[in-house]
Amino acid sequence: MWKFPSLLLLITILQISDFHLRRYASYDAYYLYEERNARRFIEIINEASAKDENKAQLAEWNYAANLTEENLRNKLLVLGEVAVRTKKRWMKLMSFQWKKFWDLDLKRQFKQYSVLGASALCREDLANYLKAVGEMEKIYSTNTICDFKDPTKCHLTMDKEIVDILKNSRNEPELKHIWTSWRNGIGPKVKGVFQNYVFLANKAARINKFANNAEMWLDRYEDYYIKLKFHSLWYQIQPLYFEIHAYTRYHLRKIYGNIVNERGPIPAHLLGNMWAQNWANVATDFLPFPNKPIADISENLRKQKYDAIKIFETAENFFISINMSTMLPSFWRNSILEKPIDREIICHGSAWDFADGKDFRIKMCTTITEENFVVAHHEMGHIEYYMQYKDQPFSFRSGANPGFHEAIGDMIALSVKSAKHLNELRLTEVNLSDQEAVLNSMFLMGMSKIVLLPFAYVVDQWRWAVFSGQITPENYNAKWWELRRSIQGIQPPSPRSEQDFDAASKYHVIADTPYIRYFVSFIIQFQFHKTLCLQSGEYNNNDPFKRLHLCDIYRKVKAGNLLKKMLALGSSRPWPEAMELLTGQREMDASALLEYFEPLYMWLRMENRKNRAFIGW
Ligand SMILES: *[C@@H]1O[C@H](CO)[C@@H](O)[C@H](O)[C@H]1NC(C)=O
Ligand SMILES: *[C@@H]1O[C@H](CO)[C@@H](O)[C@H](O)[C@H]1NC(C)=O
Ligand SMILES: *[C@@H]1O[C@H](CO)[C@@H](O)[C@H](O)[C@H]1NC(C)=O
Ligand SMILES: [Zn+2]
Repeated sequence: MWKFPSLLLLITILQISDFHLRRYASYDAYYLYEERNARRFIEIINEASAKDENKAQLAEWNYAANLTEENLRNKLLVLGEVAVRTKKRWMKLMSFQWKKFWDLDLKRQFKQYSVLGASALCREDLANYLKAVGEMEKIYSTNTICDFKDPTKCHLTMDKEIVDILKNSRNEPELKHIWTSWRNGIGPKVKGVFQNYVFLANKAARINKFANNAEMWLDRYEDYYIKLKFHSLWYQIQPLYFEIHAYTRYHLRKIYGNIVNERGPIPAHLLGNMWAQNWANVATDFLPFPNKPIADISENLRKQKYDAIKIFETAENFFISINMSTMLPSFWRNSILEKPIDREIICHGSAWDFADGKDFRIKMCTTITEENFVVAHHEMGHIEYYMQYKDQPFSFRSGANPGFHEAIGDMIALSVKSAKHLNELRLTEVNLSDQEAVLNSMFLMGMSKIVLLPFAYVVDQWRWAVFSGQITPENYNAKWWELRRSIQGIQPPSPRSEQDFDAASKYHVIADTPYIRYFVSFIIQFQFHKTLCLQSGEYNNNDPFKRLHLCDIYRKVKAGNLLKKMLALGSSRPWPEAMELLTGQREMDASALLEYFEPLYMWLRMENRKNRAFIGW
């Protein structure tokens, strides 16, 4: 586009008043000089920050991968030192008049650094803040509970026994025992620490010129109206959620009788997952077409001798097939892909960027299950993102927004979990011409994708209100359940009180990790998926064999190249631009998700009405 006339116009306007003219002249002389300095300064900052980030990540890794007092002490020490240096740089940085810079790229780099986060705290506060989060993580990560049938057996852990019981048991008292014990082991122990954490997080936010920590978190979305947008996205999805909720409740009632109220919220312990955030584990109990059973992917993985390495190699193979990055030798050397037997570690899966452009790792206690097969793709998606933006200046080495980062691996997993691809991997044998079998697969997908959305929304609505002071320690739990009930349609298996602190039973809540990113991710991953499917000729709504839920972009290099372009931007541009580059659209929009699940939605509507299942709660 020809830009000159607008510049001419600008100069004309500036010349209209003498005042502006003089201001412009001095601006020119002083700020251009300052910008030149700033450019040199930001290079130094980028380099120093990357080095410090590397040190901090190493110290954090050493603790997360070996939970000893010594490693915690060392981590706190290193993070403390890094924070002091970061703050020093920040003060210097803030002495620049960066908001007036003409060079937009430079200005954006300053903007990225201008939010300092917790490092803004004074030394003592920061130490207490890190200690609080560390303590909560340790309590969470080492929580064990007793077996229901054998109460002397008290070392059941989340990553092993608990997940299995939730998946396989249909014994209501046992599920209730597991559900309650897990919460007893965490909530009461962390409630005091959590309050202190909230206080310090807010203190840090205020030093950063935000009203509270929630505002600082949401700043990453660069949109004043973001909360309203989340709200309207939720309304876009709600009708679909109501149908899957009603269908599930109807069938759970057949299994558990009056424990499940015909018109009330669903008891949280009956959904096959500790937080009722993913219902896939119970989905096979009431498939739409039970005479078309779905292959047990976990079992097939084990039969085909998958181990942790082979699972990750399978994920890598998919990325390579679309011309994305191969994992580096150091990835295989340094990652922890299986739970070690000689020490305690934080098992919650995570992907790490050590900020030196070559050290990337995953830490995960992989078990050979369908769920972990998907999680492996999710975590590797983070690594691919890190690798694509590694050449950006350090200030831009993050996702376009946090939801983007979470969406990449999940989006790939949408292809991997398509019936077509699973058939190719010989993990399923779905007859693709058989609408009923295909709908069963889609139902399974819905039981993990659709139901996460209200959960993710609840988690952060609760925290935003905690940080803003609308929810206080006296009603932490009551408000938590109020939100769970009203948005998710879930209730606790037995009455809870303020002695309990059930929000803390979720890792991200005590680990100081925002959660709305998953809400964002679960919406935009379908937008991305749709675009890449269109681009590779795999999606055509008029062709029954090219519906969105059947699409697989395996080997579609063109799709991968397009995706890489977006990922390589890092956070150098506001996220709507990154999204536009890929999808041509600047807004988050659930319509791709609704398109994907449309056949399921139609079927559920019919079925629920046929069963006279109550909708809502
Ligand atoms: C865990 O950390 C301790 C130091 O606290 C160290 O002595 C030990 O060797 C580490 N274990 C492993 C397996 O790295
Ligand atoms: C694969 O990606 C690289 C850049 O990462 C590019 O140079 C190359 O052309 C791509 N290959 C194909 C077949 O598109
Ligand atoms: C696949 O499903 C179609 C439609 O239900 C059916 O006609 C066909 O026989 C099935 N193919 C196999 C191999 O079962
Ligand atoms: Zn993630």
